[in-house]
Amino acid sequence: MRTQVGIVGAGPAGLLLSHLLALRGIDSVVIEIRSREYCEARQRAGVLEDGSVRLLRETGLASRLDEQGLEHGGIYLQFAGERHHIDFKELTGGRSVTVYAQTEVVKDLILQRITDGGVIEFEVSDTEVDDLDSDQPVLRYTRSDGTRVELECDAIAGCDGFHGICRPAFPDGLLTITEREYPYAWLGILADVPPSTDELIYARHDRGFALHSLRSCAVSRLYLQVDPDESIENWPDDRIWDELQHRFSLPGWTLAEGDVLDKSITPMRSFVAAPMRYGRLFLAGDAAHIVPPTGAKGLNLAIADVAVLAPALDHLVRGKPELADSYTKTCLNRVWRSTHFSWWMTTMLHRTPDGDDMEGALQLSQLRYVVSSRAAAMSLAENYTGYPQLRTQED
Ligand code: PHB
Repeated sequence: MRTQVGIVGAGPAGLLLSHLLALRGIDSVVIEIRSREYCEARQRAGVLEDGSVRLLRETGLASRLDEQGLEHGGIYLQFAGERHHIDFKELTGGRSVTVYAQTEVVKDLILQRITDGGVIEFEVSDTEVDDLDSDQPVLRYTRSDGTRVELECDAIAGCDGFHGICRPAFPDGLLTITEREYPYAWLGILADVPPSTDELIYARHDRGFALHSLRSCAVSRLYLQVDPDESIENWPDDRIWDELQHRFSLPGWTLAEGDVLDKSITPMRSFVAAPMRYGRLFLAGDAAHIVPPTGAKGLNLAIADVAVLAPALDHLVRGKPELADSYTKTCLNRVWRSTHFSWWMTTMLHRTPDGDDMEGALQLSQLRYVVSSRAAAMSLAENYTGYPQLRTQED
């Protein structure tokens, strides 16, 4: 069997790449080890930069996003018993972000690909990539009915996440990995309660970080900093709400509680693998880089990677290699900016277990600077809403 681009992974990166390639007349096959139901249900982040929204809109993917996405013109930073608004729109000349869950982006993409006759094979196993340094790399996998498939491709895209098989397929010694683990994790809940806030609240508290986000007018998403080896069994719902109440408490403001619909613990790391290409295998999204979630960058980086990769592969299969040759360099510029911003937000807002007084004092000084200096607030706003701004078809 043959396709032009074999895509490993039906997350946002793989599915959007398949869609962008289809718009350019390039055919692809997406393979995924999980079921469609699993892909459509997993809870992830939910903040889209305005460049990401524009790209989804320009490529015909935004009908539900435009109906249900919640535009936000800023965030609150809370620390030392004060809550301050950072007004992105005013600081950046009109830029905003949109809260729309990654899982909804995935649902929209799957539906669009299927409607357009795209091929997505769910529940495959034993995936292998081969002949990567030739012009005809090969993707092998077993379908859920047991048939073994050998797919000849012009290129393969590894959109298979941090634990995927594509990055380990690079030859030994080729990749430079730059990595940091943080001594904390996020416990995230989805709660059946209207959000108690009009904008996301990022709170630094002596007991640890907390974030109040949302999914709709009726559903809230909240996070608590916990120890990285913490087990979810230690966090019955009552304890979660008590801790959230404590970390967000502010005179005259109340946090409404509701049923917990979903809860999970996510470790935090910064990770960058370079180069993002070996021969005809290209990595995109979490397969190549991970950021801690504090800057809300993960999904946006995946979208930005494939916005670069789609034209690069289009040119490559038509015999023009220049964009493919500069793929790593183009992507890493944004990846490192987001990696720095995510690290900065993370370390400004989280308490290191056994952190000293100096850590706390430096964090508070930095937070005071951000809420009092226009230049500092502008820097946060520019990075949060997306820097460099994503160039889309219409630019
Ligand atoms: C979310 O809504 O899940 C969310 C929002 C902002 C973040 C991370 C996650 O920084």
